[in-house]
Amino acid sequence: MSTYPISNADPDEERRLTLLESLSDPGTIQRLSNLGVGPGWRCLEVGAGHGSIAKWLCEKVGITGSVVATDIDTRFLDGIAADNLQVLKHDVVDEPLPSGGFDLIHSRAVLTHLGARDAVLDKMIRALRPGGWLLLEEADGFPLAASGSEFFIKMMTPMVREWTWARKLPSLFAGHGLLDIGADARTRLFNGGSPPAEFWRQRVEGARDLWLRAGATEESMNELCRLLQDPSFWTFHSADISAWGRPPA
Ligand SMILES: C[S@@+](CC[C@H](N)C(=O)[O-])C[C@H]1O[C@@H](n2cnc3c(N)ncnc32)[C@H](O)[C@@H]1O
Repeated sequence: MSTYPISNADPDEERRLTLLESLSDPGTIQRLSNLGVGPGWRCLEVGAGHGSIAKWLCEKVGITGSVVATDIDTRFLDGIAADNLQVLKHDVVDEPLPSGGFDLIHSRAVLTHLGARDAVLDKMIRALRPGGWLLLEEADGFPLAASGSEFFIKMMTPMVREWTWARKLPSLFAGHGLLDIGADARTRLFNGGSPPAEFWRQRVEGARDLWLRAGATEESMNELCRLLQDPSFWTFHSADISAWGRPPA
């Protein structure tokens, strides 16, 4: 059973997903372009969320290509108008992946949240055609330790403490025999009230229970949310790690 901890039913989920897209799409599109995605490619987007990357892929692969966009909650994908798009309500943990030898499989900000991430990685690699590309992009919590605020570090640790998987992606890819492996990591310093701060404030608000269970008080939660809206507060949070590779052709 999937262990995704964020409630899809939360009314703010759409806002969080579109904020994530506005922050992450430029880098993702750059990496996908570097891999050469183009006309005729068969692509799989796992955990497609609000669908901006699925839409972009549909435009790139054209009518001779195809895109399968999966998610456990397809409500934001169902309205996308593209003849070469198939939207699939699908749990990547519990269900097999569509077979077919994909030219590209991409997933962003999904596997970190799943307990069965190693099994999912294995499944994705088996769904690629020989020579097809896997691009995974996941958050890693290591930059949080560089925040200048001990309060912020203490408060954010319950969210990011398990985000240590993404840094292993290149080695995991190598262990699976992938070739042409590359990786990069990007972090940012941001201040309260900026789009990244607003994204994290929304995540914090959406997961108050996690903090309260970890021993935070309502008062400290309110202070954390205040900091994330204070333009004079600057901090690091997480890093976006991307890794790509492909099975031998
Ligand atoms: C943080 S969002 C990222 C959305 C999108 N990949 C992006 O980066 O813009 C995580 C997405 O993964 C989906 N998801 C969570 N668990 C999943 C699972 N087991 N199988 C497929 N999708 C899942 C969620 O519904 C959500 O849309």
